[in-house]
Amino acid sequence: MILRSDDPSAPKPSEITPKALYLDRRRFIAAGVAALGLSAVPAKAAVVIRSTVPGGPAVADKPTARDSATGYNNFYEFGTDKEDPQRNAHTLRPDPWSVRVEGAVAKPGALAVEDLIRPHVLEERVYRLRCVEGWSMVIPWIGVPLRDVLARFEPTLGAKFVAFETLLDPERMPGQRRSVLEWPYREGLRIDEAMHPLTLLAVGMYGEVLPNQNGAPVRLVVPWKYGFKSIKSIVRISLVEAQPPTSWGRSAPGEYGFYSNVNPTVDHPRWSQAKERPIGSFLRRDTLMFNGYADQVAGLYAGMDLRKDF
Ligand code: MTE
Repeated sequence: MILRSDDPSAPKPSEITPKALYLDRRRFIAAGVAALGLSAVPAKAAVVIRSTVPGGPAVADKPTARDSATGYNNFYEFGTDKEDPQRNAHTLRPDPWSVRVEGAVAKPGALAVEDLIRPHVLEERVYRLRCVEGWSMVIPWIGVPLRDVLARFEPTLGAKFVAFETLLDPERMPGQRRSVLEWPYREGLRIDEAMHPLTLLAVGMYGEVLPNQNGAPVRLVVPWKYGFKSIKSIVRISLVEAQPPTSWGRSAPGEYGFYSNVNPTVDHPRWSQAKERPIGSFLRRDTLMFNGYADQVAGLYAGMDLRKDF
């Protein structure tokens, strides 16, 4: 049995966000999306802008139906079937919530999600998400570039990689009672990937706060990598010297490499990655190198053998 008091990811009482602040998060996002004309809530402040970062072909694609993006999910903490997260994630309770940023930073600390995002301009970014299983979606996220958030904690020279952890709490995430993966869910990026302007810390989608099943209250979105790199419901971000272990890497190292860049020329050992099925369409289409973001990110991997570093 796992006791909550043993859970190293659980926030300390001093880190817990007062309810009023959480409600403020909803108002904060609502005011921003209203400024974009996305909802009927009266605009108080223009805190959301449509991103000016060139997003490759994603911006030309029509977003996936919201019902599909919120009803067909991978979030193993709530079950392994695609419909499980929507059915089960009501136990998550994303408020109060804080995220601890630690390791190779001059100013480590834990911040409520509101305080993580409040000083920044929230952006809406329409990104393609390509799952390693062969399906894809196009999702309008709301978030802030991860690099802007990390900069406030003042990364030091030892920060070569960034490790992310999801909440560990089998009461709120009942799927953690089954050992389908090593819990908590862990992911990682190289520091230049984490600092890339496309890398987003998302707090909303489709003009609203993130639904639980999509990783409330805060998740990563790395659009040029397979979807499993985009870790949900983050409680800890550690800047570290060495490449950190990842849940999927530990579970099947021959299948899920650390980089996991979308690459139609490198097959998964058990299936081809050349094509994908956009959710909502019957027709499969060619998968693009780096999920269509090659112009923006290929330079990060210059000189690397992407068959070896898959
Ligand atoms: N994060 C956590 N904590 N647990 C998970 O099981 N699944 C990953 C990723 N993040 C997962 C996770 C996978 S495999 C994918 S494809 C995306 O989330 C799916 O995101 P979506 O459900 O919002 O489309």
